[in-house]
Amino acid sequence: MRGHIGTFIAALVAVALCGCAGLTGNAGNTGMSITKAAYGTTEGEEVALYTLKNANGVEVQIINYGAIVTSLKVPDRSGKSDNIVLGYDTLEEYIADDAYLGCIAGRYANRIANGRFTLGSSEYTLAVNNPPNHLHGGKAGFNKKIWDAEEVRRSGAVGVRLTFTSADGEEGYPGTLDTEVTYELTKENELRIDYSAETDKQTVVNLTHHGYFNLAGAGSGDILKHELMIAADRYTPTGESMIPTGELAPVEGTPLDFREAKPIGRDIGADHPQLSYGKGFDQNFILKLAPGKSPELAARVSEPASGRVMEVLTTEPGIQFYTGNFLPNGKKGRDGKTYNHRTGFCLEAQHFPDSPNQPGFPTTVLIPGRKYSQTTTYRFSTEG
Ligand code: GAL
Repeated sequence: MRGHIGTFIAALVAVALCGCAGLTGNAGNTGMSITKAAYGTTEGEEVALYTLKNANGVEVQIINYGAIVTSLKVPDRSGKSDNIVLGYDTLEEYIADDAYLGCIAGRYANRIANGRFTLGSSEYTLAVNNPPNHLHGGKAGFNKKIWDAEEVRRSGAVGVRLTFTSADGEEGYPGTLDTEVTYELTKENELRIDYSAETDKQTVVNLTHHGYFNLAGAGSGDILKHELMIAADRYTPTGESMIPTGELAPVEGTPLDFREAKPIGRDIGADHPQLSYGKGFDQNFILKLAPGKSPELAARVSEPASGRVMEVLTTEPGIQFYTGNFLPNGKKGRDGKTYNHRTGFCLEAQHFPDSPNQPGFPTTVLIPGRKYSQTTTYRFSTEG
């Protein structure tokens, strides 16, 4: 009997140390695993790297600095896996990064005009870190924070739950914001992101994932041959400094019409003011005018050479499509790769830019007692 108990305890210890969900006897998680490794130290705190795997060869790596996805390996049509997101090798490079590679952008993703907004009778001033505007939460947004992390296992998925409390007044925003972001890799080859936040004072919130994708493999060249569909018949045109005019304009008859899939490169050089402001595609597409209850298809991208396909489903009303126009040539990436201009694209599901100053846009105001939530899923498959 003692022998059996000893074996049982040893098995429990092994499961706890390994973190292999497949060993827990959860049939829905066969072949799935989570492992945790040290990634580095900053501000006296240790940063961990979590590796999530499923039985189909999909592997996601996440660090609790910036809630960053550092690597996402997905098989191509012949079964060969490759990393399809831009990233770096080291924590130091993520700390120095100014392109928001793979992070969660917040407290307010995208731009707020002139770094100012009013709530009730109070005016709030934010950092102008993308002159003349505020961008992605300020000088040290959520992409520069150390989050608490815990492993998540449920039937059919393994994941990491990241939590961060943003102090009242941090980066100029009112209210203590308790934020939770859960990344899950499912057995259906999805990277699912559930976001929630609660505040103790009226504030604004807009969170998104800022992954740069290249379905041919990160560092393999530009993304212009990817075929993209965006399920939006309108977009929010901006002025020169990328702040929306407030208009909800039809995509029809413009280079922004992605309702039928077309190569990203087909119209990227078209002579159109919206393309000149962003130096390529960098627009918010309108999916709906209020957040949905469950994620709906927002975009589909396919890459002809590898056969990889990515679908983006979201509850959010908008999606910013950005073609890495501000990526410099010769940027050092992970695994000895070099990234250049337009070698990754972002599909950032979110609310519309500058919503705090745009009464006609879906609201981004969060009040005490209410919960902000959004879900976005990146789903992978192959074709051809
Ligand atoms: C995107 C934004 C771009 C640029 C980029 C970061 O989300 O749309 O204009 O600021 O982030 O370089």
